[in-house]
Amino acid sequence: NVEATDSKNLRVKLVLLGDSGVGKSCIVLRFVRGQFDPSSKVTVGASFLSQTVALQDSTTVKFEIWDTAGQERYAALAPLYYRGAAVAVVVYDITNPQSFNKAQYWVKELQKHGSPDIVLALVGNKADLQEKREVSIEDGMNHAEKNGMFFIETSAKTADNINQLFEEIAKRLP
Ligand code: GTP
Ligand code: MG
Repeated sequence: NVEATDSKNLRVKLVLLGDSGVGKSCIVLRFVRGQFDPSSKVTVGASFLSQTVALQDSTTVKFEIWDTAGQERYAALAPLYYRGAAVAVVVYDITNPQSFNKAQYWVKELQKHGSPDIVLALVGNKADLQEKREVSIEDGMNHAEKNGMFFIETSAKTADNINQLFEEIAKRLP
């Protein structure tokens, strides 16, 4: 939910969804702590972190981030985390077409069962691995456009577009 704590301070529940290994936890770690962990461990259940972003117009947005576990055995838990979320960030790995298919599955699921006014973002992560790319920017962009989503490619490794992702989401809040 987006909640006004006062006129200029928003608190926003955000959930990350996507296949295991696409880099959800690394995106969050980069955003919240400015770090990258090349030996990041798979998430068990989900983890919670928060981070505040200040916008140009002096609004602040506190993101309460639920970083879900992508492994199939945790799929049934996802609704616990996306229910009531104001924002869902669906992540895939640009070197892994199967993860792009999984992202499309999550988009459908969110459209069916998420909040009607949920802000959806589609993120192609690992953009630093250009030589291994198997999902084109166009495919990502088209899928996002068709579904009324914000689209961006990121790298948690190099930090490319990580802050931009959260700033753009903050600007799109209702
Ligand atoms: P689950 O918790 O199982 O759902 O996976 P996850 O999506 O949280 O993946 P995680 O963030 O743990 O990252 C998985 C692996 O990808 C790790 O070895 C990371 O180091 C690597 N990785 C994550 N982001 C990037 C990136 O932007 N570029 C590159 N080259 N590797 C990345
Ligand atoms: Mg994880």
